[in-house]
Amino acid sequence: MSPSYMLFLSFFLFFSATTSAFNITRLLSKHPEFSHFNDYLTQTKLYAEINNRRTITVLAVENRALSSLSGNSLDVIKKTLSLHVVLDYFDVEKLKELSNKTTLLTTLFQSSGVATNQEGFLNVTDLITGEVAFGSAAKGSSLNAHLVKSVAAQPYNISVLQISTPIIAPGFGVTISPLPPPAPPTEAPTKAAVEAPTPSEKTPSQSPVNAPTVATPEPADTPIPPSDAPSDANAPADAPMSNAPLSSPPSVGAADEAPSPSPSSGTRVAIGAGLVAVIGLLSALVAF
Ligand SMILES: *[C@@H]1O[C@H](CO)[C@@H](O)[C@H](O)[C@H]1NC(C)=O
Ligand SMILES: *[C@@H]1O[C@H](CO)[C@@H](O)[C@H](O)[C@H]1NC(C)=O
Ligand SMILES: *[C@@H]1O[C@H](CO)[C@@H](O)[C@H](O)[C@H]1NC(C)=O
Ligand SMILES: *[C@@H]1O[C@H](CO)[C@@H](O)[C@H](O)[C@H]1NC(C)=O
Repeated sequence: MSPSYMLFLSFFLFFSATTSAFNITRLLSKHPEFSHFNDYLTQTKLYAEINNRRTITVLAVENRALSSLSGNSLDVIKKTLSLHVVLDYFDVEKLKELSNKTTLLTTLFQSSGVATNQEGFLNVTDLITGEVAFGSAAKGSSLNAHLVKSVAAQPYNISVLQISTPIIAPGFGVTISPLPPPAPPTEAPTKAAVEAPTPSEKTPSQSPVNAPTVATPEPADTPIPPSDAPSDANAPADAPMSNAPLSSPPSVGAADEAPSPSPSSGTRVAIGAGLVAVIGLLSALVAF
């Protein structure tokens, strides 16, 4: 008796687990711009009602536009979002070919049993401009949202469409918060931060005088610099003037000649080299 019961139970569990052809939470999780909408579906448990349906269209609103609902209780948000779940399959093509250019759509809110008048319906209208507009079908509402694009589709089980802004039904007592500033301004500081290092790269090259001072402790503890010294010894005349990265090895070579007064001697070598170059240039000019 118990084995057959177990078998029955496992069959039952298997079928109940696979009745849903889709998982709205997983579908939306591939689109981070709808993460707040997805969070609301989870918090309001609307995801379960959506997954239990066979033929459905979800009108999703991206994070920034959805933040206009942030000042409302979860109850108001649940009522509002259940208006965003249409109990039929609509893709972009089907919406753009409405037979009479306008029609009413039944939503999940209608099936909640608390809808009065036309509250549970949406009015979808093909505008002359080619746009598809949505609004509550209840008296006194406007077609305040429009179709943006298709987000996901599993014909003819589920379609997820993006709409521009939440659909507001007049009777729900929805508070609308102002939207945060758009994203672009955050990109500007990043560009400035990227540009900033470039001027700072140039500054080290302007201070070859500092390089010898920093390098002075090295010859004192390590015997390695002398081995490098011969190769670098020829360099100090041109190196400090040409580029910064090379300026520290030559300074070791310069310091090696006279360990104790190294900073000043290194500087003198650099100044001396500069003087030689200037004098050479002057004499060349004079000769010319
Ligand atoms: C639906 O997807 C979410 C996120 O991937 C997961 O946590 C959840 O368990 C899934 N639900 C079912 C019934 O598979
Ligand atoms: C379209 O409009 C006509 C006349 O106004 C009406 O008879 C018909 O039922 C409408 N069709 C739909 C699908 O609403
Ligand atoms: C939808 O709203 C528009 C504008 O308010 C209206 O002209 C149209 O008749 C409505 N459509 C339906 C099916 O009620
Ligand atoms: C739609 O759901 C049915 C089962 O309800 C499934 O067999 C079919 O593969 C699904 N279609 C898509 C495109 O996922």
